Amino acid sequence: MRPRRITTHKIQAMKARGERIPMVTAYDYTQAQIVEAAGIPMILVGDSLGNVVLGFDSTIPVTVEDMVRHSAAVVRGTETPLIVVDMPFMSYQVDAETALRNAGKLLQEGGAQAVKLEGGQAVAPIIRRLTDAGVAVMGHIGLTPQSVHKLGGYRVQGKTNRSAEELIEDAIAIQEAGAFALVLELIPVELAAEITERLDIPTIGIGAGPHTDGQVQVLYDMLGMSLGFKPKHAGDYAKLGETAKDALERYGDDVKAGAFPTSAQSFHLDKSPVTDSSRRESPTPYGSSR
Ligand code: KIV
Repeated sequence: MRPRRITTHKIQAMKARGERIPMVTAYDYTQAQIVEAAGIPMILVGDSLGNVVLGFDSTIPVTVEDMVRHSAAVVRGTETPLIVVDMPFMSYQVDAETALRNAGKLLQEGGAQAVKLEGGQAVAPIIRRLTDAGVAVMGHIGLTPQSVHKLGGYRVQGKTNRSAEELIEDAIAIQEAGAFALVLELIPVELAAEITERLDIPTIGIGAGPHTDGQVQVLYDMLGMSLGFKPKHAGDYAKLGETAKDALERYGDDVKAGAFPTSAQSFHLDKSPVTDSSRRESPTPYGSSR
């Protein structure tokens, strides 16, 4: 029997026990396998894939079809983590019925267990409609990247008393609408601590300091996969972009110098004559042509 996936209730029980909740994004099958092997209990198929995978300068162009495709790949690569998938821009803001249809598509075709929506009190009625229909929802307030043009850039939110109060009210409205957890992105440490204290549901911070119940990071940032900008809140766990570039430079040099492949990386004729059946043997799991 396949192992059972971690449930939203198990994630909530972690808060109740005072156990911190690690979460990262993943966008494909292989990344998801690595994340699961590392013991991370919850994966976000983030619409940040618009930036890090598809090369857009925001998450706004990402579609429901993009999210379905990447979510399904992450689900195929894992057995136990809880998979949360982002609802992309304009897939839930128009009205609750459209939101419900799109959430249904993400869960049925993408295979995720929960959806995530950005926004505070304004989206609470939509969250309520989804949760009443049996959809597990994670909220997301603070910096909400889908509103980047309204917010005037990717900047810290809730720094003034008034905006901090507003975010506290947003957090409470989302909990009351039935969300099982809430992402707090790019807000002051003190505000994140207060929201975490006031909510029963787990808060998952990104750039919100150490006092939230869990942390989420964009996998590419956390592993240093891009060669350019890395947000300060992503930590310094690896520099995979540099490592990959070095490996590719050595590969390129070796190919140019005729030093790759060697005999050890090549296939040789059998001593006996070639038969049709030996020709059909595949040296890779993908097929004989790779
Ligand atoms: O899309 C994403 O990766 C996110 C995280 C930044 C929380 O929403």
